Amino acid sequence: MAMKVALLGCGVVGSEVVRLVNEQSEELAARVGTPIEIGGIAVRRIDRDRGVDPALLTTDATALVTRPDIDLVVEVIGGIEPARSLILAAVKSGKSVVTANKALLAEDGQTLHRAAREAGVDLYYEASVAGAIPLLRPLRDSLAGDRVHRVLGIVNGTTNYILDRMDSLGAGFTESLEEAQSLGYAEADPTADVEGFDAAAKAAILARLAFHTQQVTAADVHREGITGVSAGDIASARAMGCVVKLLAICQRSEDGESVGVRVHPVMLPVEHPLASVKEAYNAVFVEAESAGRLMFYGAGAGGTPTASAVLGDLVAVARNRLARTSVAEGAHDTGLPVHDMGHTITSYHVALDVADRPGVLSKVAEIFADHGVSIKNVRQEGTGDDAQLVLVSHPAPDAALSSTVEVLRGHEMVREVASVMRVETFSD
Ligand code: HSE
Repeated sequence: MAMKVALLGCGVVGSEVVRLVNEQSEELAARVGTPIEIGGIAVRRIDRDRGVDPALLTTDATALVTRPDIDLVVEVIGGIEPARSLILAAVKSGKSVVTANKALLAEDGQTLHRAAREAGVDLYYEASVAGAIPLLRPLRDSLAGDRVHRVLGIVNGTTNYILDRMDSLGAGFTESLEEAQSLGYAEADPTADVEGFDAAAKAAILARLAFHTQQVTAADVHREGITGVSAGDIASARAMGCVVKLLAICQRSEDGESVGVRVHPVMLPVEHPLASVKEAYNAVFVEAESAGRLMFYGAGAGGTPTASAVLGDLVAVARNRLARTSVAEGAHDTGLPVHDMGHTITSYHVALDVADRPGVLSKVAEIFADHGVSIKNVRQEGTGDDAQLVLVSHPAPDAALSSTVEVLRGHEMVREVASVMRVETFSD
């Protein structure tokens, strides 16, 4: 007997899911062991032509997800409500769910996973982070026997495109954003991308999986976007052999007792594999105790790539259903808490426009020392009125580094703090 899928939402991703389920019906039946067919599609308005069988359309999503003949539910409407209520209604009626909803998982994944466990059904969400890239199941399953130390991800294509243009063409932020908008990468309101909200939601999901802790929500993620990144920052990075990337970084603390989760612009050495991720591509770099360094790369958005991830999940949950099993995610939780940004160990690059006279460098060094921050290297660019001191710190608690910068900002010898950016460090 065929397995019936209820689809919630029929936009860019949903319509591709319908197309692929129909076009690949024979392969899907062979891979699952039974045919998969779309049993109904919930939309807000029926009067639009979506290229799908109109007889499948309904505006009553709750009735659809609880219909007795429906086995699986695919949610691609996004946002918190009504998606959360519909997913909860679906799992309570014994349906397994596939969702691409990063915002919901990042805000309230714990509730959804608990409900799925209690109902003995699956909740899969590969498409919620980095589109087509198989990433969440490798973290959850393939690395389940390993210990992940750090995850670094370029998980937002729009900001990667903008930073790439700024780097390769010397373009400014505004002009690069306009180009990203004209190409359809950035929305008319680009806030979610350029202010790092989209990446922060994905970071929360990655941290939960990498460290097996349900504790992390989007609100726990320290977030800084790229609107403050200037052409000068990009030039400073280049001068140090670095590129600027917006990274989602999830890291276990040195004592292993907590995790840090953050999204901010980073100067990254050009030789690091993430530095070569161009345009709107996504990539996630994982450092694990036994596996070593792994990188996952590919298209992070787009209807067809995202639908590929949804279909992969659909096959997995359908197989589990036939085998009368499910994955109880979150059942064995480490409960690792999130530490705040001030306790996160980072390094800073600081460029200071200074008065070029004796004692300035020693005063600047003293301010670093007063905060317990050790300087890794320092160089002077220019002389006289054009003098700039460029310092890179050794790793130190972020709170100590940001206080150092605050004192420098207010010091009479510092005309301007021209550039401040964190530098991510890597051991050999
Ligand atoms: N807006 C996102 C990006 C894709 O630019 O990567 C959806 O998460």
